[in-house]
Parts: sequence; C-alpha cells; structure tokens
Amino acid sequence: MVIEMIFKKILCGCLLLFLSCMNSLGLAASQTNKVEIFSWWIGGGEEESLQAIFKVFKRNYPQIEIINATVEGGAGINAKAALQTRMVGGKPPDSFQVHGGAELVDSYVKTGMMEPITKLLNDWGVRNKFNPQILDMCSYKGEIYSIPLDVQRGNMLWYNMRILQTYHITPPKTVPDLLTACRKLAAYGVIPLSLGDKNKWEATHLFETILVARMGAEKYNGLWNGKTSFDDPQITEALVDFKHLLKYVNKDHGTLTWQDATKMVSSGKAAFNVMGDWAEGYLKTLGGTPAKSFGWEPLGDNFMVITDTFGLPKGAPHRKGAIAWLATIASVEGQNTFNLVKGTISSRMDANRGLYDAYQQMSMDDFMKLTLTPSIVHGSATPQGFTSAMDDMMNTFIYEGNINKTRRQLKQIVADYLE
Ligand code: GAL
Repeated sequence: MVIEMIFKKILCGCLLLFLSCMNSLGLAASQTNKVEIFSWWIGGGEEESLQAIFKVFKRNYPQIEIINATVEGGAGINAKAALQTRMVGGKPPDSFQVHGGAELVDSYVKTGMMEPITKLLNDWGVRNKFNPQILDMCSYKGEIYSIPLDVQRGNMLWYNMRILQTYHITPPKTVPDLLTACRKLAAYGVIPLSLGDKNKWEATHLFETILVARMGAEKYNGLWNGKTSFDDPQITEALVDFKHLLKYVNKDHGTLTWQDATKMVSSGKAAFNVMGDWAEGYLKTLGGTPAKSFGWEPLGDNFMVITDTFGLPKGAPHRKGAIAWLATIASVEGQNTFNLVKGTISSRMDANRGLYDAYQQMSMDDFMKLTLTPSIVHGSATPQGFTSAMDDMMNTFIYEGNINKTRRQLKQIVADYLE
C-alpha cells in the first residue's frame, strides 16, 4: 500500500515536471492558447475594424493570444494567393478571411478543405439569427462552412459635398448623369472621378458597377444562372460607358490604392469615387462626417452584395482558439463592433440598428428591399481564377481601350472558368 502511494506520487511528480517542461518550451501553450487569424485587413479603415473586434475577443478570451496574420493589398489581391499556397501545402491558418459565394465554395469547400460548422451555429443557438440569403453564400449542400462577419455593398458612389455644392452639381443617380456631372466638373478644372487601380481590381470594381447599372439586376444575375448570354450587347454598352468615364479620372490612377483614391474625395482633390462601402469606414477614419463632409448615391437599383466570412479549416493547428474566434464573430457584439467601424452592416438580423449611422441605416433598408447581385471582383459571383483573369483583362482595357478584343477575352475567360 505504502509502496503503491510512493509510486503514485513519483508518477504525479514526473507528470507535473513534464508539463512544466512543455510549458517552458512553449509547446503546450502554443497548442492551446493561440489563434492565427489570416486576413488582408491591414490598410486604412480596415485595420481599425479588425482591431476593434480583436478587442472584443481579447476581453472574452484573455488567455488566448491572437496571431494577426495579414497580407497587404486591397480585396485580398496578394492574400488570396498566399492563402491558397498555405491551404494546398497543408499549413492552414486557424481561421481566414474569405468571401462568401463562389470564392469560398469553389476554392475551399468543394476541395474538402473546410469543416462544416452547422452544428456549432446550432449549439450556440444563432443559426436562425443570420440573414438566410447571406448564410446561403456560406453554405454548400445543406451544410454551413463559414460565418459572415459583414454585409457590404459594392455599387456606391461617394462624393465630396463641398465640391458638389460649390459647382451646383446634383448627386448623380445613373451612369449617364455621372458622365454629365464629370463633364461639368472637368470644365471647372476639378478632377471629377478618383481611381486608384494600382492593384487592378479597383478598375474591375468600377466596371462591374457600371455593368449592372447598364444591364439591370435581373439580367446581370442571368449571367451567373445561364439566362443571360455573354454575347449580350449591353456588355459592350457598359464597356463604352467605362471608357468614357476613364477620361475623367486622375492621371496617376495606376500608382494609387483604393485608400488613396478615397482620400482624394475626403481631401477635396476629387469630387467622386466608386467603391464598396468599406470606403465609408475609411472616410470616417479620415475625420469625415456622413451627410456633412461626404455624401453617397447608389449607382444602379441593385445591391451588389459582398460578405467577408471566416470558417474552420481542416487541420487548424489551434482548433479551440479558432472556435473561440468564430463564436466572437457570430455574436451581436462582435458584429456591431466590427461593422460600426467598417462602414458596413451586420449579417445578423438582430443587430442594433440604432447604433448605426445614416449611411448604414440606408444600406440596411436597401439590403432588405433591393435585388442582390453578386460581385465578380469580391468573389460572390465567380471563382478566384475568373476574378483574376477579369482583373488582367480590365487592366489591359484601360490602356488599350479595345472593345472587340475585350469581348473576345471575356468569352475566353467564361469558357476557361465557368463552363
Ligand atoms: C473587399 C473586402 C472588404 C475590403 C475591401 C478592400 O474584398 O470584402 O472587406 O477589405 O476588399 O480591401
């Protein structure tokens, strides 16, 4: 009996010694007390919103250290490639930013790289709190694979209120009206439209906004469900509009980022900019006040829908930490904290409307009543390969302006990635 007790004590001592060695080597701690969150939110207006939700996480899980893995470049232009390399190489982060829609489903769900998280959402009792259309963009074959942190609108025209007042310009609601306003402003020597397409996608963003405005929501959506042909003449009309608009952009657009272009509106260097509503967050970060220093007008009767989502990759090194992160972004507090800064809206239907500003409340209303159109650039409509081929095509178009060549290229991209 005594021998047995001594033996047990020795065993316990050894175990404690082993654990403390593990700890001092950082092994045990690294397994349980970290979480690596991968995103491209490192630029102005984006980093602030990420840090805001990190604060919520740190308060709820003080024992878990966040590894903030960011790769610079708007719209994930560099991050997406880096992520793919990691995922294919079997080195996933614990959770990563990915657009709901084709980008998530084609790259990571169909390829079997993600764990379904439907059960987690059910266990937390939040599954039916999310907008079903947005949750659909995170689902495949009846299972949910990621949590939508935001709902963003792509087709938005931002403007400097002082410039429009000075030159008596009514905020344009259509592309032809925008062209007229640009013509007037150019005659006064003002830069009408800012563009920063250093990373290419910003030009495609402008084009897709024009494309839906030209085609209308139903017809544009037909491109993705097979009801509209890619031979449709309105694609040519959109290219013509785009070419006209390009006459009114700043000459140095190829060297600027989307933030630089937004800044031009904020500082009064340019009158207009077309960008998703994360630009609202940035305009506020720069000191702007909605409906006072800057205004907005949707281009088109549609809601170009984009959602940033996070899921649980198979083989996540810190699975517990990843689940804690997912619980944070699924919570009303997490969603409100993030979206209030980002300029966007929550994907939860029970978010506190009263906390949001005038732009965001309009976005909530439009989201409920307008036809949603998925974005090419931000992965809701098309897989990653299509999107980058499209960015290259638009980039060439900007410098060559060759409509026939672009139409032929587009058909090729469709054949390569959609058929
Ligand atoms: C989008 C993303 C937004 C914002 C934007 C600019 O693709 O969904 O959250 O980050 O890119 O980088």
